[in-house]
Amino acid sequence: MKVFATRVIPPNGLELLERAGISVTQWTEKRALSAEELIAHCRQYDALLLASDNPIDRPFLEQCRHLKVVALLSVGYNHVDVAAANELGVPVTNTPGVLSAATADTAFLLMLSAARKAFYQHKRILRGDWNFSEPTANLGMDLEGKTLGIWGLGNIGYVMAHRCVSAFNMKVIYHNRGHNEAAEKKLGAVKVSFDELLAQSDVLSVHTALTPETADTFDMAAFKRMKPSAIFINTARGAIHNEPDLTAAIEQGIIWGAGLDVTNPEPMHPDNPLLNMPTVAVLPHIGSATVETRNAMSVMAAKNILAAFNGQPLPNQVTS
Ligand code: DGY
Repeated sequence: MKVFATRVIPPNGLELLERAGISVTQWTEKRALSAEELIAHCRQYDALLLASDNPIDRPFLEQCRHLKVVALLSVGYNHVDVAAANELGVPVTNTPGVLSAATADTAFLLMLSAARKAFYQHKRILRGDWNFSEPTANLGMDLEGKTLGIWGLGNIGYVMAHRCVSAFNMKVIYHNRGHNEAAEKKLGAVKVSFDELLAQSDVLSVHTALTPETADTFDMAAFKRMKPSAIFINTARGAIHNEPDLTAAIEQGIIWGAGLDVTNPEPMHPDNPLLNMPTVAVLPHIGSATVETRNAMSVMAAKNILAAFNGQPLPNQVTS
């Protein structure tokens, strides 16, 4: 059995596959594979370990129906046509749970960085703009006791809320389809309408999946319903916010600032005005990028591949 991996895979998952006698070919070039190249490679392999954002769309699936599994090295699967995969009988798996803490830590880092203008203060030093102290200049904002609004209180949102309650005694409100009873009991989280979430959050952190329903939700109309002192955090998917509207909302003081681990498009262009705004912190989609987490994700993906090769139920199959 042979696996094709679209990037170099963290060692723990790779070892697991190799110890099971599976040969893994990794794409090591420092450029993205084109759709045609991906299909051409996959034709020669039994499984795909997808560690890039190449779309797994109907044309791909129609030409690669022989794959025993497409194992994603991500929890998000907005780049996969799951309905087509189900119809064509190509199982798809993801890596839920193991990256929740690392991704929540990234949201927390962005929240604190935007609140204290940390990335901007760093740039001030680099450009020689740290000459004397000014008691009224470059001030950030406190987070103690503020209201954290979570949109999509699943695993990652729960850890973010837990961090914020423990560190800053923040009040947690959330908007979800269902109730998160654990968050309500343990963190005192209160479910609110989407309008209330917008109106009451001092920090609004997005932890929902990208779907046709959630795309472009945070546009100018939404920012206008938020507090002028609010911080918008997105570690989920960039297409959930409208980036020109976010830029204008911060420029015009409609909201205070933002922390983004995901942008639209990715990669963000280095000339993007958001990168020079004092109250904005941007990271290059590194939510799950710790040694421990990436290794855990690779082990999960490897176990899904082993199960597929052994004809066993797939531990993390995505079905809708
Ligand atoms: C995920 O796992 O979905 C991360 O955002 C990486 O894409």
